[in-house]
Amino acid sequence: MEKTVRAHTNIALIKYWGKADAKLRLPLMSSLSMTLDQFYTDTRVVKSDQDRFFLNGSEQTGSSKQRVFDYLHVLQKRLGQTGHLRVESTNHVPTAAGLASSSSAFAALAGAFCAYYKLEVSRKELSRLARLGSGSASRSIYGGFAIWQKGTDDASSYAYALDEKPKLDLQLLAVELNQQPKFLSSTGGMSQAPSSPFFQPWLARNQEELAAMTKAIQDNDFSRLGQLAELNANEMHAINLTAAPGFTYFEPATIAAIKLVQKIRASGIECYYTIDAGPNVKILCQLKNVKEITKQFVSEFENAKIVMQSFGPGISYLD
Ligand code: DP6
Repeated sequence: MEKTVRAHTNIALIKYWGKADAKLRLPLMSSLSMTLDQFYTDTRVVKSDQDRFFLNGSEQTGSSKQRVFDYLHVLQKRLGQTGHLRVESTNHVPTAAGLASSSSAFAALAGAFCAYYKLEVSRKELSRLARLGSGSASRSIYGGFAIWQKGTDDASSYAYALDEKPKLDLQLLAVELNQQPKFLSSTGGMSQAPSSPFFQPWLARNQEELAAMTKAIQDNDFSRLGQLAELNANEMHAINLTAAPGFTYFEPATIAAIKLVQKIRASGIECYYTIDAGPNVKILCQLKNVKEITKQFVSEFENAKIVMQSFGPGISYLD
């Protein structure tokens, strides 16, 4: 029986948003993330007489199968393996589109591939392999907080654990405002972003932002962490708006959610937001405020799905 590999989604507090090498997925900046406990992907690779990909029990054809097998063929070539494969993945996220993430998908796939061929790889090695499928997947190998150091080439670009069992009281409320598939993929968005006049100045701040975030984590300083995460996300989205051509992942509901976070904060309840390549919002807060913040979001966004999360573990092998 082949092993099923479980990897959890991660959310970047310092974002990866630009590639130095698209093929190798080498980033232009280092990034830092929090691995989540509630969203994860389980994947198993088994022998097959043709390449097949099943997601949540249904066979996939077209572009999602293509991306999975393009990736697996790269791994086979690199690691000297051959043969057709059947990939079975289950995404444990609340809905089909809105919050699904390639970070858990490619981390689990890299792990399942190595398990199938009985390849002994270190977590560092696995992080490098996951990176080739989706950059953010490099960080999902680890639990807690992880840093993906950008490196200068394939060998030096991988993630490592910053703190796998953080003591910090940090909760993340994933607010799903919109379930539509994204209009522009992360890959597409980040290839346009460098045309913004603010991109280079942002890049120049990367080491400083990363060091400040690392210190906030080491100091268990929730306020500083939230301020830095919100700023970094706003920088990314400001860059998208000012790219040539400009674009935004924000929808009217995204702006309304930002304003609600600002209002709740002004009332003395501390919370911050971060937003990725889509319209949904993730709120960073402390346990004591979860109830009140959730209440206010539910009353303003009737149809929103809210999932409370905290730190999740790194990759694991299920029997
Ligand atoms: C905004 O890892 O999905 O979530 O490497 O092109 O697959 P590819 O991109 P992906 O991008 C993630 C972008 C982000 C920020 C982040 O997770 O760091």
